[in-house]
Amino acid sequence: MVKIEEISKVYETKNGSVQALRGVSLDLPEGSFTALLGKSGCGKTTLLRLVAGLEAPSSGTLSLDLPRLQVGYVFQEPRLMPWLSVADNVRLAELGGGGHGDFDDAARILSVLGLSSFSKAFPHQLSGGMAQRVALGRTLFCKPSLILMDEPFGALDWFTRRSLQEDLLRLWQEGGKTILFVTHDIDEALMLAGRVVVLKDGEVTDRFEVFPAHRRDSSDLFPLRERILRTLI
Ligand SMILES: Nc1ncnc2c1ncn2[C@@H]1O[C@H](COP(=O)(O)OP(=O)(O)OP(=O)(O)O)[C@@H](O)[C@H]1O
Ligand SMILES: [Mg+2]
Repeated sequence: MVKIEEISKVYETKNGSVQALRGVSLDLPEGSFTALLGKSGCGKTTLLRLVAGLEAPSSGTLSLDLPRLQVGYVFQEPRLMPWLSVADNVRLAELGGGGHGDFDDAARILSVLGLSSFSKAFPHQLSGGMAQRVALGRTLFCKPSLILMDEPFGALDWFTRRSLQEDLLRLWQEGGKTILFVTHDIDEALMLAGRVVVLKDGEVTDRFEVFPAHRRDSSDLFPLRERILRTLI
């Protein structure tokens, strides 16, 4: 679905050039769930922005075999419209004339995300976790085939994060979605993704698969955690 080959990205700034990505290659097969894991500043957001078409690479090639309109993006913060209700925030693309969903879709999404009773509420009346659920709903409303998620649960407490991770896994298991999920949390990457790609200083330093059997017994995840720590530190 997405093929990234030898991509580099250099930002020119007043203080000189910053090399954010160096020769990154990555495939995202249709239906895969990939975690992009790395420390702050290693180039994770840059890579997402390139896939979304918000930036152009300095060199290398990136090909998507889907229209960019089918790419959804979930930011680290909810970025809701404060003057719109929860339901209207989910239907934002429709209100702007660019949506693919309808009123029933919005209601169904709110129900899946446990927000039905808050559909008429406004963003200031929501907790952080609920607001992030609405942001996820707004992206799902556009029926994206590829969802790019940039540390979407980073600002949430452990319990809320856990429950949103479970919601996301359930949505992905229904099928039809390819997910690229950025995180700096090793456990989050191991819990969610079938494929983990480790990025350090703009380069891919490791990549491996996580099989469902690994997750059945959490001690099976120790060696993977150690392996990631060894590459990152
Ligand atoms: N628009 C920009 N102009 C100049 N430099 C930039 C720009 N965007 C990112 N950078 C630089 O590129 C590097 C990678 O940034 P990026 O935002 O991709 O990192 P990140 O892995 O997402 O970090 P974090 O986990 O903190 O969000 C950093 O050194 C950053 O300062
Ligand atoms: Mg970032």
